[in-house]
Amino acid sequence: MKALVLSGGSGTRLRPFSYSMPKQLIPIANKPVLQHVLENIRDLGVTEIGVIVGGGAEQIEAAVGDGSGLGVRITYIPQENPTGLAACVSLARPFLGNDDFVMYLGDNMLPDGVGEIAAQFAADRPAAQVVVHKVADPTAFGVAELDAEGRVTRLVEKPKEPRSDLALIGVYFFTPAIHEAVASIEPSARGELEITDAIQWLLTHGADVRASQYEGYWKDTGRVDDVLACNRKLLDDVKPDVVGEVDATSVITGQVVVEAGARVVRSTIEGPAIIGAGTLVEDSRVGPYTSIGKDCVLRGTHMDESIALDGATVTEVRGLHGSVIGRSATVGQAAQHRLVVGDHTSVEVAAA
Ligand code: DAU
Repeated sequence: MKALVLSGGSGTRLRPFSYSMPKQLIPIANKPVLQHVLENIRDLGVTEIGVIVGGGAEQIEAAVGDGSGLGVRITYIPQENPTGLAACVSLARPFLGNDDFVMYLGDNMLPDGVGEIAAQFAADRPAAQVVVHKVADPTAFGVAELDAEGRVTRLVEKPKEPRSDLALIGVYFFTPAIHEAVASIEPSARGELEITDAIQWLLTHGADVRASQYEGYWKDTGRVDDVLACNRKLLDDVKPDVVGEVDATSVITGQVVVEAGARVVRSTIEGPAIIGAGTLVEDSRVGPYTSIGKDCVLRGTHMDESIALDGATVTEVRGLHGSVIGRSATVGQAAQHRLVVGDHTSVEVAAA
């Protein structure tokens, strides 16, 4: 079996970060979402992975390279425009050949893994096996309708009036039967070739389509609040590991990682938290539920339930909560509020 990871797309819901980086590189517990995805696939025993890349191709290649560091082999498949999930399957046809494959959306996190579902697929080889999960608002997703015996009766992409609360959550298993379906469908109202429509085409043409319910933790990391929620969830399982320097006046409590070359000076780190390599934390309070990337500087800062990306600097700002600070961004103190804020950025200032 091969894997196809979709790591192109536009990421408009994750602005401003997606202006300068592919959304699949947003770090969760200091590791890009895409790396979590690739590791998840490797844990299924699948090592031949095609990765669809769009605008941020060079950054993705710089982050995960040829995959050898993760024990997989990556073939990059460039996509000029995000024309849909099913379009990605056609584009990848030369890579996929006539093999079965798992398709995995590069911005979906399923940290509990899909090992059992993969094993079921390998044993029964239905034309398609989708992974579903109950959600509160199915209108934002592809939705699967099942009959009383659990057989799939219909699949609808982002229905206005959903008849089921089972969302497709970004992992699909296919035999080569999907290729005819993908070649037979028309673009949807949003102008994309939808994989949901291709699977519906299989159903309509009498193919065996199954749905397996995933009971673990799942997040589509398409929005900032989802990224923060997922970060909190993954930090819960972080194993304490203090390699960097912590001075005698600092206090570390709970599950905390201080990576190599990081320095914690006169500060309190309350776990779960990660302090990235080469970062300086001075006269600060960090955590709980906070990930600080590589080569950041935090001085006189209090920050919890937040993420700082690589190279961020925060000076003398206390009470930061639920914040995401971009790469090499600077947040500091002044006598008056002075904001230099990029497009589609959100800033919330606490009432005095
Ligand atoms: O998150 C699960 C949902 O993902 C499913 O419930 C929907 O049925 C499915 O259509 C998809 O919906 P989204 O609108 O959230 O898809 P999004 O545009 O975010 O794209 C999903 C991933 O695929 C993302 O990592 C970007 C990548 N992508 C997307 C398109 C349209 C590509 O690589 N190429 C593309 O052409």
